[in-house]
Amino acid sequence: MERFVVEGPVALRGSVEPGGSKNTALPLMCAALLAEGVSELRNVPDLRDTRTLIRVLDTLGAKCERDGSTLRIDAREVPVREAPYELVKTMRASITVLGPLLARFGEARVSMPGGCAWGPRPVDLHLEGLERLSACIDLDHGYIDAKWPKGSRLKGAEISFRISSVGATENVLMAAVLAEGKSVLRNSAREPDVTSLAEGLVGMGAKIEGIGTSTLTVEGVDALQPLNFEVPPDRIEVGTFLTAAPATGGEITVTNCIPDHQSALLEVFRSGGLDMEVGENYIRVDGRRPMNPVEVVTAPYPGFPTDMQAQVMAACARSAGVSTLTETIYLDRFTHVAELRRLGAKIRLDGNVAVVTGVEKLQGAPVMATDIRASSALVLAACAAQGVTTVSRIYHIDRGYERIEQRLAGLGARIVREEEPD
Ligand code: EPZ
Repeated sequence: MERFVVEGPVALRGSVEPGGSKNTALPLMCAALLAEGVSELRNVPDLRDTRTLIRVLDTLGAKCERDGSTLRIDAREVPVREAPYELVKTMRASITVLGPLLARFGEARVSMPGGCAWGPRPVDLHLEGLERLSACIDLDHGYIDAKWPKGSRLKGAEISFRISSVGATENVLMAAVLAEGKSVLRNSAREPDVTSLAEGLVGMGAKIEGIGTSTLTVEGVDALQPLNFEVPPDRIEVGTFLTAAPATGGEITVTNCIPDHQSALLEVFRSGGLDMEVGENYIRVDGRRPMNPVEVVTAPYPGFPTDMQAQVMAACARSAGVSTLTETIYLDRFTHVAELRRLGAKIRLDGNVAVVTGVEKLQGAPVMATDIRASSALVLAACAAQGVTTVSRIYHIDRGYERIEQRLAGLGARIVREEEPD
């Protein structure tokens, strides 16, 4: 296994460009299964997660070919309709092959995803939504068996999601576009990942109204053309790099990004008294003065993204006062707290609220990554800490960030990747 060795304190400074969005690329890769043809997806990041999904698609018999950041997916033949446990357990987003396989072929067998470090992460909303479209769903030895109803295709229906779910919205939307008749998906997730998926589907010939709102209306069609789409910049990667400014006392500019995607994060930085400049497609954040205390409450988009909670906590660890971060999306997305404490952060957990008292200095220490965003928070804190920090199990960070140590080094970080000593 590999680890990062980080030497601090370093105030990160300079300009960086984001890669393509992981959480937009993954559902769009699944959407390619809907069309009998060769789809093309541009600006696809090269990550553990996108590589895992390429393996899933190859297992299904769809042929993937990467040419730089362009991915071509030949889904003319998809002879296998089973997504195996060995792959799904490594990345729960594989579950989003379920809707497309079912919609196009009338059958799909996908392993139930496991939980993750911070919660059970059920898929009941995915299955309930597909059943509303008349799918027959059985659970069989850890697998989801889904079929069309006897003698017909899926049928359009009214669906109201009990809670806003990105994956459930994506899976059910990709099934509804080939169902017979009209579907209305209420309380749909409004994350830009869902909006991009809907736009990609419309480009394939799907009929979808209300894109960007929480009510998506779909008129089913008989068949779709291959996908031809460019993945937008990764909004969580943009947020992570911007947060490096207050987290390390530096000044960061992120270019080629979509400022609208960052509104909730910039609101928090504004409330923390940080100077910022927001242009057409760039954002600069000046974190040279310690951030004032902030109050963060995670919420579905356009609220503050749960995927930015850990990174902003690392910034709060050095802020000038007492901040609170309330996690409302997941039961226990605080696995980074114990590790940040090892670096000297003063954090008290009170149910789903983390109370962070800023300290003057963090100290380097060995810490362990537990999930994608927790590991990026630890790396930011390690850059700020006095002395050497080792971050182990960095396969977590490689799931969601491409060559992160090279890009942080470009901002002045003293960070190397090495094999964990035995
Ligand atoms: C997506 O996961 C993202 N992953 C996650 O990012 C992100 O944290 C999450 O959305 C929330 O924004 C991808 O897009 C690949 P949800 P998803 O369904 O779709 C509950 C990262 O770091 N729920 O919106 O799985 C669920 O437990 C990852 O890139 C049900 O109860 O999230 C959670 O509490 C981590 N039943 C809430 O809904 C269901 O059937 C929101 O989850 C589905 C979800």
